[in-house]
Amino acid sequence: MRYTLNLNGKDTAVEADDPDMPLVFVLRDLLGLRGTKYTCLEGACGACTVHIYGVAVRACQIPVSDCEGAAIVTIEGLSTAGDHPVQQAWLEERVPQCGWCQPGQIMQAAALIAEDPAPSEEDIATGMSGNLCRCGTAPRILKAVARAAEITRRDAQ
Ligand code: FES
Ligand code: FES
Repeated sequence: MRYTLNLNGKDTAVEADDPDMPLVFVLRDLLGLRGTKYTCLEGACGACTVHIYGVAVRACQIPVSDCEGAAIVTIEGLSTAGDHPVQQAWLEERVPQCGWCQPGQIMQAAALIAEDPAPSEEDIATGMSGNLCRCGTAPRILKAVARAAEITRRDAQ
């Protein structure tokens, strides 16, 4: 079956035999966008987070048949130059360790800040609590999200 996704701003056709194929595998295996990672495949870790219509969702839980025409943004499309405020803050705070969870963390953080560019510490902790990191980067992630929000507010002035 052929599906058309609006992927990172471009209409993109993809052939998927199984309508239940999770979006994460459509992105990685059929479209070659390997920035989106996966770990649990049960909606529990956040490694596969992408945006659909600007909302952070878990791509392991969305079948391709639900994505026809959907506006999807992956880590590859978050910014053209890799300079989204979250990406700037991630570099400033030297967040990643092994890196595996980081695309999902960044996509979650970007959606959080888009919804509220002035989140409290508690908002950030709650908003990021579903994205797990086995390398212990959570403290740096929380600092980086706060920093990204500052950059976003500064850029809006
Ligand atoms: S791989 Fe999707 S939430 Fe863990
Ligand atoms: S940086 Fe290694 S899992 Fe998060």
